[in-house]
Amino acid sequence: MFAQTTPHLLMSPPDHFEVSYAINPWMQPADWAHNAVRLRADALRGWQALRQTYVKLGATVVLQPPVQGLPDLVFTANCAVVLDRKVLLAQFRPIERRGEQAYGRVLFDSLVADGQIDSIHTMPPGIFFEGAGDAIWDASRQWFWTGHGQRSSESAGETITDVFQAKTQALRLVDARFYHLDTCFCVLSGGEILYYPPAFDAPSLALIRSIAGGSLIEANDDDAIHLGVNSVCWGRDIVMGYCSGELQSQLTSCGYRVHRVDLGSFNRSGGSAYCLTLRLDNKSR
Ligand code: ARG
Repeated sequence: MFAQTTPHLLMSPPDHFEVSYAINPWMQPADWAHNAVRLRADALRGWQALRQTYVKLGATVVLQPPVQGLPDLVFTANCAVVLDRKVLLAQFRPIERRGEQAYGRVLFDSLVADGQIDSIHTMPPGIFFEGAGDAIWDASRQWFWTGHGQRSSESAGETITDVFQAKTQALRLVDARFYHLDTCFCVLSGGEILYYPPAFDAPSLALIRSIAGGSLIEANDDDAIHLGVNSVCWGRDIVMGYCSGELQSQLTSCGYRVHRVDLGSFNRSGGSAYCLTLRLDNKSR
């Protein structure tokens, strides 16, 4: 059940991280500006602790260099999704984040040149796609769960299927606070799904429940509003920015080890552990 893996991850240091615009309800630029020095220091500490936790758990981490004026570049989950050494690049809906795309291209070109990636693919014009934030690989079920209704276009699923030859299960997000699928849906390595039901429309909830009925773990409001669902899991380890006592006991009883890292400064941008991380080594069977 808990396969041994040594994940290969992409992260980007938060040297230029801040909340200077608002593209989701978590982002309050005036609040950030009020405490900018402390919040930036907290962000740096949290990001370093996250990276150290990954390395301690056996991962290798590749870095995307930070760029001044692109504060959300730290959220590497959004720059692309990767499966079987193929990369599908993001096409952002908010204009504030579109400047990140060129840097994603440069990074993945360098990974192709290094022999770490085989090919790079793009979305057709006019189709929005915000990377692994809205396309979560489910290794147990061998498909992508995709999010739409907030940022990524519903039709992004067609390109995902063409590029990766993999099925998609589309889920509709209906709460502006949970604007990417990864904010309210997390696939654990044993096939359990941690999710926050109020973030989805009724047909999506029915789909989730019909597919994963016996292996669902519901996040409570407390975990959801601290973005605890936005977690990274491999083997029996789960790295989380927040985890209530209740959730921790549920996860522990399923055999997982919870590693908590304080990422509160990133919550102010709507992000946590999963958003700050992109898996480069997803594989299909
Ligand atoms: N401020 C960023 C945005 O709204 C946060 C992105 C977090 N990333 C994620 N995969 N949920 O786009």
